Amino acid sequence: MYAGSFPTHMQLDGFKATAVEAATIGGNILVEYVRSGFRIEYKNAVDLVTDADRQSEQAIIDTIRRNYPDHDILAEERGMESAGRSPYKWVIDPLDGTTNFAHGFPMYCVSIGLEHEGRMVLGVILDPTRQELFTAVSGHGTTLNGRRIRVSHTSALDAALLVTGFAYDIRESRNNNLDYFSQFCLRARGVRRTGSAALDLCYVAAGRFDGFWEMKLHAWDVAAGSLMVTEAGGRMSDFKGGTFSIDGEEMVSSNGLIHGEMLDVLRQTSLRTHT
Ligand code: IPD
Ligand code: CA
Ligand code: CA
Repeated sequence: MYAGSFPTHMQLDGFKATAVEAATIGGNILVEYVRSGFRIEYKNAVDLVTDADRQSEQAIIDTIRRNYPDHDILAEERGMESAGRSPYKWVIDPLDGTTNFAHGFPMYCVSIGLEHEGRMVLGVILDPTRQELFTAVSGHGTTLNGRRIRVSHTSALDAALLVTGFAYDIRESRNNNLDYFSQFCLRARGVRRTGSAALDLCYVAAGRFDGFWEMKLHAWDVAAGSLMVTEAGGRMSDFKGGTFSIDGEEMVSSNGLIHGEMLDVLRQTSLRTHT
């Protein structure tokens, strides 16, 4: 990786246009598969993949490659494709919410993030069902269908609506989030589980959720969404309040105001259950 200066406005605009084009093509493919039907394969009993995931991913990669042939790409189904020693890496989830998609539950999206020298600079997430396009550009805020959005003002966990999710190893691992889930159910106003981490992050950015925690997510689940939250004035961290990494094991996301209380619940629960 070579050192390069931070992308200019013009470059960022170009990246964003490409990401929006790619997400739109990917989203159209998903919608088309809903109409025509799709084949499901099982990675394990609960982890699915469909033709729609693969087709959407291929079309997104083709669009990015056409515009930026030198950039690196990390995509969920294909893995890492290194074009060279680029400071740029596109991080793609062509269908976040596959289980929902496979069951006809309309909560899924296309997620495309761009990292520059290890730092997120762009996020584009498209919910094709509701036609909601979320974008975030480093230093320039988060938008929903072109309008600026901000995190909520909820200042107490007691009054907060939270969201979480569970990893595909829930049946095998004892570290499966169920302890945290039960504690947050007792402490927050409500806890939801939507099945799309990328949209959960967009909803924190839009103030629809006040906080979100999850473990064992992958870079493609959170790359674009994490920038949505920080650019909308929210906070991202690990379970101890340390620096958030898209490659990390733990993620806490919030409007900032309830972050401390969320970390307290995580710490107390982990002391009780892991000692
Ligand atoms: C999943 C979703 C879900 C989360 C899982 C992810 P996928 O992604 O984001 O909300 O709980 O851990 O793997 O498999 O639908 O792309
Ligand atoms: Ca995902
Ligand atoms: Ca996926």
